[in-house]
Amino acid sequence: MPPPLDDVDRIMDVMECAFSPEYGEAWNRRQVSDSLLLGTVHYALIGPDGTIAPQHPETSDACPSAGGLGDTTAGFYLSRSVLDEEELLLFAIAPEFRRRGLGRTLLIHFIINATERGKKRLFLEMRHNNPAGVLYAAHGFRPIGLRPRYYRTLNGDRLDAITQELVIE
Ligand SMILES: CC(C)(COP(=O)(O)OP(=O)(O)OC[C@H]1O[C@@H](n2cnc3c(N)ncnc32)[C@H](O)[C@@H]1OP(=O)(O)O)[C@@H](O)C(=O)NCCC(=O)NCCS
Repeated sequence: MPPPLDDVDRIMDVMECAFSPEYGEAWNRRQVSDSLLLGTVHYALIGPDGTIAPQHPETSDACPSAGGLGDTTAGFYLSRSVLDEEELLLFAIAPEFRRRGLGRTLLIHFIINATERGKKRLFLEMRHNNPAGVLYAAHGFRPIGLRPRYYRTLNGDRLDAITQELVIE
């Protein structure tokens, strides 16, 4: 079942302001809506007050929706599951809502939700020196690999990518 258009709009609203164009990390609308057609991709939205909207259900055919979130979306994540692993593909809070604990709330939701779906290993990849690393470390993610010069910035610089893992005990 395709995701509600409203949810794609909400994700894109945050996407367009949260990711610096310098690193080319943002996805376009087509990439987001196509990915959400896959049963293996999950997402959640968070409002300015910390309310988290229901997300793509794996086992239910109920239509996911952002009901209860209000007009403004502060952030979202999008993840993909493979067997007993889940990878955090996109994670962002709009700049005006940062440093209020919303990113922490959303990351905890990602961890709990994936755990409840039986995932044993959670992964993500981040730019070397992304401040988000502080948040990931605080929630148990540990660096397990490095892809040298993986990201290319607008001015042609290359930045390493760090793969992080959280093993669910
Ligand atoms: C990473 C991001 C999601 C964090 O969202 P946030 O809502 O500001 O995070 P929180 O307010 O929950 O921060 C929780 C803790 O993480 C750490 N943290 C978050 N942002 C930080 C920053 N810019 N510098 C240093 N530490 C930071 C702090 O320890 C913070 O606790 P504190 O505010 O009590 O000091 C947000 O900065 C963002 O969207 N960045 C751009 C997109 C991005 O890089 N996503 C991650 C891709 S790997």
